[in-house]
Formats: sequence, structure tokens, C-alpha cells
Amino acid sequence: MFTLLDHPLITHKLAIMRDENTGTKDFSQQLDEIAGLMAYEVSRDLPTEDVSVTTPMGICHTKMLSKQVVLVPILRAGMGMVSGIRNLIPTAKVGFIGLYRDEETLQPVEYFAKFPKHLEDAVVMVLDPMLATGGSASAALDMIKKRGAKTIKLVCLVGAPDGVKRIQEDHPDVDIYLAALDEKLNEIGYIVPGLGDAGDRIFGTK
Ligand code: PRP
Ligand code: URA
Repeated sequence: MFTLLDHPLITHKLAIMRDENTGTKDFSQQLDEIAGLMAYEVSRDLPTEDVSVTTPMGICHTKMLSKQVVLVPILRAGMGMVSGIRNLIPTAKVGFIGLYRDEETLQPVEYFAKFPKHLEDAVVMVLDPMLATGGSASAALDMIKKRGAKTIKLVCLVGAPDGVKRIQEDHPDVDIYLAALDEKLNEIGYIVPGLGDAGDRIFGTK
């Protein structure tokens, strides 16, 4: 399943991020806010269980979340989405995948992995602002599936058609969420018009 979350608030905040004059502080703040807005939609189908709660007036038969949510940011840029989602789902656990894209081959190189236990029972949200060739996200999905994850959502901000196609081919069982689907990749694998290098813009490197 592919879902484009082009809500006006999300598109407005993303326009601020795309602006080349937006600095690190505002870029990170908008990313945090967009991640929270996206989480609201991405969590729409989270499983629930029946519970009874005693209110000051009596018993309420209602529902609460029944599955652990695990956020897995792809380092570095995915880190910029964690706190915005945790504001909405404070019980979420966090795992980490360290990948960088080799600038010549565009192939993902793994340098770190750390996950909470019992991924097989959790709803896992893999986070990365950019889905360009899809190589990094596809490798990250392989890594978490190897650790047993079964219910997986890939949450990215800006995607290119190539990246979406790659994930749909490699991981047809994974739900993909984007805030924007851009036109294309350039000759060095950057999304056009995109927003540039997300990691560098979040952390002020380069
Ligand atoms: C960026 C981005 C994705 C990847 C997307 O990370 O955050 O992880 O590139 O490209 P792909 O879809 O073609 O694989 P980068 O490798 O620049 O690392 P960083 O987050 O540490 O800056
Ligand atoms: N990684 C980024 O940070 N930006 C792109 O446009 C592509 C990959």
C-alpha cells in the first residue's frame, strides 16, 4: 500500500523545509512537526483491544492500543523524525539502523544496528526523510525482517518514483507513507526538486 499524506499543514511545513534559505533550527523544527502529523495518519490502523476504565461517573468500555510500536530511524536523518512521533506515541520503543549511501556507487553501507526485543509482535515504523533510489530503505527493511519484524510501515517525507517502485518490488508487504512524491532523481541520486541533503540540513554538517 502506498499513501500520500498531502494534508495542507504538511505540505506548508514541507515547503518551508524545501526552501534553501531555511536554516538548521527551522528545518529540524518543521521536520519534527511533520513527523507528528504523519504519525497521526500512519497510526490510524493500529490494533486495539477492549478495556474497561473506571471513570469518576462509572465504567467505560473502550479500547486501548494492543501492540508495541517500535520506531526505527535510519541514521542519521531518520533521527529528525523520532521526537515528533514520540510526542504522539510516548510508549514507542526505538531501534536504530546506521546506513550511509556510498556517494559513488549509491549503495547503502551498514555501520550500526540495535533493536528492542520482540520485533515479531510489534508494529515497526521505519523512519527516513528521503526515499531516493530506495536502496537504503530496502536494506533497512531487510535488516529488520531478518530480526523477525512482520508488520512494517515505511514513513518518509519526500520520495522519488524510483524509490517507491524499488520498495514495492523488494518489499510488497510494507506500507509506504510519503508527504510528497517528487519528479525524479538527478544524475547523482538526489531527489529533484527535493530539499537537498536531509542529514546535512538537520545536523548542520557541510
Ligand atoms: C540519505 C537519506 C536516506 C538515503 C536515501 O542518507 O537520509 O537514508 O540517503 O537515499 P537512497 O534512497 O538512494 O538510498 P545518507 O546516506 O545521506 O546518510 P545521512 O542520513 O547520514 O546523511
Ligand atoms: N539523500 C538526501 O538526503 N537527499 C536526497 O535528495 C537523496 C538522498
